[in-house]
Amino acid sequence: MAQLWGGRFTKETDQFVYSFNASISFDKRLLRQDIQGSKAHVRMLAEAGILTEQERDRILTGLESIFLDVKEGRLMITDEYEDIHSFVEANLIARIGEPGKKLHTGRSRNDQVALDMRLYVREELAEVKMLLLALMRVLHRLMKENLNTYMPGFTHLQKAQPVTFAHHVGAYMEMFKRDYARLTDIYERMNYCPLGAGALAGTTYPLKRERTAELLDFYGPTLNSMDSVSDRDYIIESLSAFSIIMMHLSRFSEEVILWNSNEYQFIELDDAYSTGSSIMPQKKNPDIAELVRGKTGRVYGALQAMLTTMKGIPLAYNKDMQEDKEWTFDAVDTVKGCLTLFTGMLDTMTLRKQQMEASAKKGFTNATDAADYLVNHGVPFRDAHGIVGQLVLHCIEKNIALDDLTLEEFQAVCPAFEADIYDAISLETCVGKRNTIGGPGQVAMQEVVAQNESFLDQERKKYESFNK
Ligand code: ARG
Repeated sequence: MAQLWGGRFTKETDQFVYSFNASISFDKRLLRQDIQGSKAHVRMLAEAGILTEQERDRILTGLESIFLDVKEGRLMITDEYEDIHSFVEANLIARIGEPGKKLHTGRSRNDQVALDMRLYVREELAEVKMLLLALMRVLHRLMKENLNTYMPGFTHLQKAQPVTFAHHVGAYMEMFKRDYARLTDIYERMNYCPLGAGALAGTTYPLKRERTAELLDFYGPTLNSMDSVSDRDYIIESLSAFSIIMMHLSRFSEEVILWNSNEYQFIELDDAYSTGSSIMPQKKNPDIAELVRGKTGRVYGALQAMLTTMKGIPLAYNKDMQEDKEWTFDAVDTVKGCLTLFTGMLDTMTLRKQQMEASAKKGFTNATDAADYLVNHGVPFRDAHGIVGQLVLHCIEKNIALDDLTLEEFQAVCPAFEADIYDAISLETCVGKRNTIGGPGQVAMQEVVAQNESFLDQERKKYESFNK
């Protein structure tokens, strides 16, 4: 057992207690962030005159060599260390001797781990945003290509009014735009540096917290040392935003599964994104969509677990908070994996446009428009509703669509119908006339597509300038 705190103890820790307490098996994932934070810390310590420049340089070289050795497989992170912070410090001292013992000056593992997690979450927010952008680019393409692909719009999963595939997919585009904005908001709120908060009450060393914050690209230092070591709001906010992303992906998955079913046949998933059955040779299953839908539960679980873990913790740091890591790591992996696969699945699926259009024609999705037609010919809406209802009943009996009625049949129920009724209730008219912004009409949709295009361009440029 290599631990940092043996001094005041007279007995060895019980082995099971030691393993129960240890976090190395999962926080080894924070090696890069831990070293990044330590490097900034020693640079600041040297600038503040707390370390000499030689000490700083030896520590920096030592830290870099540890990172490289782990990365290249020469050094293993093993369970003999309590956590990643102990691992780095013990190895540093083993490598460079005395100066290594000064790394932890003016720092506690409490502010250290608070920093590591912030660095980790901050990076992952940016990664998830990139994946959302990739998904939105596919949605944008599908929208541009399908302004005239008619399909039924549903309420209560009953055919309601005709829309286009572009309009339907456009609804998800809006959801993912909000998700994207949520992640930006979280980033803006969390991007402050907790290092220098010490165990809970700051330190007596003349640390330059603003400088550490600057070295690590934070907007500035956090403003209360007790809050700094015990704040996990940004984790809960991220898990909450990830949960909402998963909820959106799950709803979309459900639609993909329906559309891909034998009954709908609106789309066909690519072979690369489907799986077969071990017994039924005819099967091609939408497993990826089902898994994305299913994995939503894991991310909701992580959010619930963290809210519960945090709810009764008095200030300041308590070991309960060590529980933040596994949930966060799992949720990040899940949401990133789901976004990646879902994007590939959408990008490669085939649309069966004729099937969608035929379905839109079959379910009386133009009944509202037939009623509106009567209103435009002087019939009050409530009466018009009743008249079209009668016609629908007649059509159901004859197993035909409204468009298939003869003019005589229309006029037998209401003389206000004229020959232009057919044009008035065609799919093209029903959709094409709905052009108030947000509607499925092509003019309205083109405006939205143009707005999405500039949003996507603007965000892509931000990433390009950031990665230069
Ligand atoms: N492994 C701990 C965590 O993840 C690091 C902080 C430990 N601090 C302490 N005082 N025991 O939260």
